[in-house]
Amino acid sequence: MAFIGTLVEECAASLPVGGDRTGKDRERIAVSNWDTLSGLAGTVGAGTIRDLLEKDPSRATRLVVEGAGVTLDFSRQRVDESVVDALLALAQERGVLDRRDAMFRGDRINVTEDRSVLHVALRMPKDESLIVDDVDVVREVHGVLDRMKAFADRVRSGDWVGHTGQRIRNVVNIGIGGSDLGPVMAYEALRDYSDRDLTLRFVSNVDGTDIVEALHDLDPAETLFIVASKTFTTLETMTNAGAARDWLKKGLGDDADVAKHFVAVSTNADKVAEFGIDTANMFGFWNWVGGRYSMDSAIGLSTMIAIGPDDFDDLLAGFHAMDQHFLTAPPAANLPLLMGLLSVWNRNFLDCPTVAVLPYEQYLVRFPAYLQQLTMESNGKRVRLDGTPVESETGPIYWGEPGTNGQHSFYQLIHQGTSTIPSDVIFFAEPLHEVGDQHDMLIANALAQAAVFALGRTAEEVAADGVPAELVPHKVMPGNRPCSVIMVQKLTPFALGSLVALYEHTVFTAGAIWGIDSFDQWGVELGKVMAAALIPQLQDGDAGAPTQDSATTSSVARYRAARGR
Ligand code: F6P
Repeated sequence: MAFIGTLVEECAASLPVGGDRTGKDRERIAVSNWDTLSGLAGTVGAGTIRDLLEKDPSRATRLVVEGAGVTLDFSRQRVDESVVDALLALAQERGVLDRRDAMFRGDRINVTEDRSVLHVALRMPKDESLIVDDVDVVREVHGVLDRMKAFADRVRSGDWVGHTGQRIRNVVNIGIGGSDLGPVMAYEALRDYSDRDLTLRFVSNVDGTDIVEALHDLDPAETLFIVASKTFTTLETMTNAGAARDWLKKGLGDDADVAKHFVAVSTNADKVAEFGIDTANMFGFWNWVGGRYSMDSAIGLSTMIAIGPDDFDDLLAGFHAMDQHFLTAPPAANLPLLMGLLSVWNRNFLDCPTVAVLPYEQYLVRFPAYLQQLTMESNGKRVRLDGTPVESETGPIYWGEPGTNGQHSFYQLIHQGTSTIPSDVIFFAEPLHEVGDQHDMLIANALAQAAVFALGRTAEEVAADGVPAELVPHKVMPGNRPCSVIMVQKLTPFALGSLVALYEHTVFTAGAIWGIDSFDQWGVELGKVMAAALIPQLQDGDAGAPTQDSATTSSVARYRAARGR
């Protein structure tokens, strides 16, 4: 598969204004790569995966790429080499690799926040350096990592004790969004590597139920809270942190030394001190780490306490291996680049608005939820970097559940519903627990589903099974649902790191094609401001701003009445 630039975009504007185009001129107006792909959507894209596989069985071994321990088999995608070449040419035309290089250099590619985007620096080895604005960010990263390691060791060994002198047995991470989803996902994914004498809990929702349930069976004397918030201003986190402090004081007495039970992860030292946490027990990071790209920063402190510093290093090494692959692999063999381009193909040219993430691995139970923030907060955008409207659809909706549970739930809609839903089927070759032959059963299910997504079952095949004619339409499976099969040898910290980095760079690639800022999240702000304004209205019956809409005012009144206010 060649990384071709055969399709040269030559815009009509270069022709003499108002001049008649000769046949030669017309020939010179080569179509853009986007137009080429639109054409291919009407040919290859309008065909079937069944045909592609039948006519060219060797695609099953050709359309497979490997990197950093991950194997991507995209032979069940509705593409052939002509589509892949055109996608790679589109990437070249849209400057994806230049933008990648700019990110790795530390350029301020998050233009709306005027920030560098340097999560890749979080996993660079200690002996490397990256100078950004005269600062060696790798040195800073390892400075914090070293402090995290010392602290994690103290907690794990029992050296860090609480107010009463008892060792810490419970660690509660309080955070939301990127300060929660990554840590929860990683804890669940790496549970088998965790210290089972420690109980890890995660509190995120401002719904009081979350913290009540998280704490109800814990002993405050043995509980450590990690308040994780980049800004240290987030309503949910600060409210829950306050509730945790109250719970602690209730359990240990008003004069309890709460500093022994609270540490912070933040970029905002002033706010941390204001809350009453000793900044000596604060683990910092930097504004060039986006919340949803932060699970390998100090935000991963709970992960490090659970699995230990050595395994955390392994996790970082996996991230770094995929970073290096993205940075150096040739485009046609570059996993994140290809996955990002396939997501653009499915979204823009095959018109698929959602993607199902289907890990056949129970430990990845929170992986789809994690990916929802990573993908949708990043690429749910409607204007380009310069503020002009995008010209195509952007980020698809990501969702999913581990297999095989999902098979007995929503797969029906994937198989026979009216939308085409592409999927990522993810599994590990070696199980962490060999229980009879259950792992073979699991993987058989993964591969069976991938086959049914791709091939389906025709009316002729159904009828040939002796199905009565009136039932045939009900049993036809249209197939032609694009599917990528992602295999990794074994779920290790390294493997998790490389898998997460794969998706980070996949999101980056698609965002670069669309020309959007994948690193801001302005869309989440308005709701926060309105919620803050509504709290006093719900409590004190303030009339609200004169401009407030009537529906909200009336909902507030009904709520107040229901609460007897
Ligand atoms: O509301 C969205 C968001 O800003 C996310 O981007 C971020 O991960 C989350 O809130 C939490 O923010 P913080 O870490 O500052 O509390």
